Amino acid sequence: TALPEAYNEPVREYRPGGADARALRAELTHQLGQTVEIPSFVNGRALHGGGRRIEVRAPHDRSALLGVAHGVSAQQVNEAVDAAVAAAPVWRELPFDERAAIFLRAAELLAGPWRARLNAATMLGQSKSVQQAEIDSACELIDFWRYNVSFARQLLTEQPESSPGVWNRTDHRPLEGFVYAVTPFNFTAIAGNLPTAPALMGNTVVWKPAATQLLAAHWTMELLREAGLPDGVINLVVGDAVEVTDVVLSRPELAGIHFTGSTTVFRGLWQGVAANLETYRAYPRLIGETGGKDFVVAHPSADPAALRTALVRGAFEFQGQKCSAASRAYLPRSLWTALRDELAAETEGLSFGDVADFTTFGGAVIDERAFRRLDAVISRSHADDAVNVIAGGRTDDSQGWFVRPTIVECADPRHDVFATEYFGPFLSVYVYDDADYSGVLDLAANTSPYGLTGAIFSRDRHAVVEAMRALRFAAGNFYVNDKPTGAVVGQQPFGGGRASGTNDKAGSVLNLQRWVSPRSIKETF
Ligand code: ALA
Repeated sequence: TALPEAYNEPVREYRPGGADARALRAELTHQLGQTVEIPSFVNGRALHGGGRRIEVRAPHDRSALLGVAHGVSAQQVNEAVDAAVAAAPVWRELPFDERAAIFLRAAELLAGPWRARLNAATMLGQSKSVQQAEIDSACELIDFWRYNVSFARQLLTEQPESSPGVWNRTDHRPLEGFVYAVTPFNFTAIAGNLPTAPALMGNTVVWKPAATQLLAAHWTMELLREAGLPDGVINLVVGDAVEVTDVVLSRPELAGIHFTGSTTVFRGLWQGVAANLETYRAYPRLIGETGGKDFVVAHPSADPAALRTALVRGAFEFQGQKCSAASRAYLPRSLWTALRDELAAETEGLSFGDVADFTTFGGAVIDERAFRRLDAVISRSHADDAVNVIAGGRTDDSQGWFVRPTIVECADPRHDVFATEYFGPFLSVYVYDDADYSGVLDLAANTSPYGLTGAIFSRDRHAVVEAMRALRFAAGNFYVNDKPTGAVVGQQPFGGGRASGTNDKAGSVLNLQRWVSPRSIKETF
């Protein structure tokens, strides 16, 4: 049977006064006026934990209490795993097309009636501007569901050669056991993709969303249920990350982990798996996408206007809280003189405030912990003679967790500002002598432990080729004359290597392949 063809969901503009803007505004008002009880979901039943109370507040306005959840107990985590294990035999026997239909329906629900709800939850809960929410909680999540279905079909129809008298077949089995999806706050799309990609391949899942993304995670779960996801296939567990993980990793049925988050937490998961290795029935698959310290290198031939836009958007959209965000720039002295003032002025002109008013460039950083971390980095920068703050450098926590987009210049290319991921609106600039382009490529390639995204700006093809070669292992997503953020499902499969993850490209055949364990069948006639 032919599947509906996958296509990228068009991005809507939310023009003031237009129907989309009106619907979204009504939904924002509605969500601001209520406090949602956010349950866990185990075997299709809402489950209210008795543990720690988690409050969901808008990062840009702490007075808005948007939701309340309670962490689950160890016993309840075990029940979630039991539910996933129990649902597996029935779910995996459902024909692929029937599983696919659920996610295709989810995509259409999100493209239509659910769009405003998930966008509003992402704007309020994660402090995303309307444009940043639209490309995430609407378009990218829709794209993941549509494209995963076509990639999965492609994968599942692959069969080996046979020979006279022999019939060879591949049985594309799901993993035996359950998958643990641990999802980040910064993309509703990633949080929705990590549990659903393994589920599409016939696995059942325990999903632990970030405590700072609960509102959108809750509505994503409700949407999947409305789309017809059977009970027990994805079990959402709200709770303390370490407590939930400890229980999950102790279960022999753990077959895989699908993770996006910090490098430290992913390393902890590997260590936890290693410590329990003898208890597992099979080697769990560990698929993770973690941090970045993403570079922009400009050759002297770069178009200065395109470069400036890429730096501002790449570094500061969504307050720089993207693993892909531009956070270190290597710029030639010949361009810097003019660029410096324009870049500083444009950055100072960006407005950050209440994202619900539709006009701000961005909102606040996600929570107090992020605020304190960035506030400390900024204070250190002011105090450090080697670091020159040329834009921003101010914070304000009177109403929300606001951090002004900050640009620093530093003449020591080995300085911490070029190596450590701060995960916020902070861009470090190293200015190089034009003649030292090759040397600066080496620096960009080897200064940080990460390998996620990066960009080269140049109108000279030889310089582009040289950069591609020198930076080959420095980025899993490499951009030529474009910002290093905003990968589109089906167009730029996303992921990186080194300390940035296992590079099992989200929304691609490569990723879906990790959720199957094929059986080769030979039959002799
Ligand atoms: N996939 C996201 C981006 O490319 C992280 O910006």
